Amino acid sequence: MNFEFTEEQKMIQQAARDFAQRELITDVIERDEKSEYPTSHVKKLAVLGFLGMLVSSDYDGGGMDTVSYVLAMEEISKVDSSVSVIMSVNNSLVCFGIEAYGTEEQKEKWLKPLASGEKIGAFLLSEPDAGSDASSQKTKAEDKGDYYLLNGTKNWITNGNTASTYIVIAQTHPEKKHKGINAFLVDRNSEGISVAPHENKMGMRSSDTHSVTFTDVKVPKENRLGEDGFGFKFAMKTLDGGRIGIASQALGIASGAFERSVQYAKERKAFGTEIANHQAIAFKLSDMKVKIENARNLCLKAAWLKDQGQPYAVASAMAKQYAADIAMDVTTEAVQIHGGYGYVKEYHVERLMREAKLTQIYEGTSEVQKMVISRDLLK
Ligand code: CAA
Repeated sequence: MNFEFTEEQKMIQQAARDFAQRELITDVIERDEKSEYPTSHVKKLAVLGFLGMLVSSDYDGGGMDTVSYVLAMEEISKVDSSVSVIMSVNNSLVCFGIEAYGTEEQKEKWLKPLASGEKIGAFLLSEPDAGSDASSQKTKAEDKGDYYLLNGTKNWITNGNTASTYIVIAQTHPEKKHKGINAFLVDRNSEGISVAPHENKMGMRSSDTHSVTFTDVKVPKENRLGEDGFGFKFAMKTLDGGRIGIASQALGIASGAFERSVQYAKERKAFGTEIANHQAIAFKLSDMKVKIENARNLCLKAAWLKDQGQPYAVASAMAKQYAADIAMDVTTEAVQIHGGYGYVKEYHVERLMREAKLTQIYEGTSEVQKMVISRDLLK
């Protein structure tokens, strides 16, 4: 077993670290406060090749491996998960699905601009009444011969307003339940699409989250991804990779809060010495370190399995559940270590704590991950 990263993986990690520590850090607090979309940073993600880093160079992507993706996601999420979620959704939920299951024509037309970062994509699965229970899709895609007619509402959509390309999951044959669901490539500028105002979120406030409503939107037949009825499996397979992205994001949030806590504990004095010298603080740091190391190993294992072409659905669910849950624990302890300073914005850890909470909710709650893991155990 080799735990050493390749030179290329180390270079990608360093590039992500530089970008986060030199550029994202400068305005992250202000953007969070104002819920302001990180326009210039997303442009830089495209220049760095991170928006389509997992896509083959044949389709204008970075051709990088999933281990590198974990490393880059961790570094960016140490500073700003509003930016890393944009990168994760574009790579894992949008580009992956088109590259894995699209036709050559679909890849030429839709994937290339997404992989190069010229355009951004969004993945529209969740609905007001279909969150964890994703097969209960109410959005309808009626087969009208040479096109589908799309009607319904999607919510909690990351990149909902900025995306040019939507992947929309919808029900075509309700009597077939999950086997009647399809996935479609939809141009965001199609007639009949309306986007609700930006959600006023607790954390990751500068990413772009919206509800999207489809009213008699015509989707050409050739925009369906995969065979008729493949949409639910398409969504599940896509989310398997998405969960590696969010697990790595949670890992980054935890390690960002941890690094700040170590630094603070070595500087802050109380009762005549630096607080790191008090066992109450030292043991907290030790527990945080072990949790982060475990989360990192789970993320890298899931990524490695994917890169090896081996099954990774359960590994990615384990990484996502564990990393998200420890991100909440670690960031809560980080605020505690910082005391009153942890509760104000300048020290970043309260924001990291708010961001951690979302990783336990989106791309499948921690409970959904436990369903995936336990069903596999008991099948
Ligand atoms: N890969 C391939 N096939 C899969 C699969 C996978 N990972 N998971 C399930 N399937 C298949 C099953 O084999 C089964 O196939 P057959 O009918 O042929 O036997 C079929 O799909 C149905 O499977 P289940 O009975 O297990 O499905 P379920 O309805 O019980 O749901 C679930 C299981 C895991 C809870 C699923 O609904 C789920 O993942 N829910 C959470 C959804 C989610 O993550 N939403 C997040 C939205 S995206 C987001 O957050 C975007 C953003 O902007 C950040």
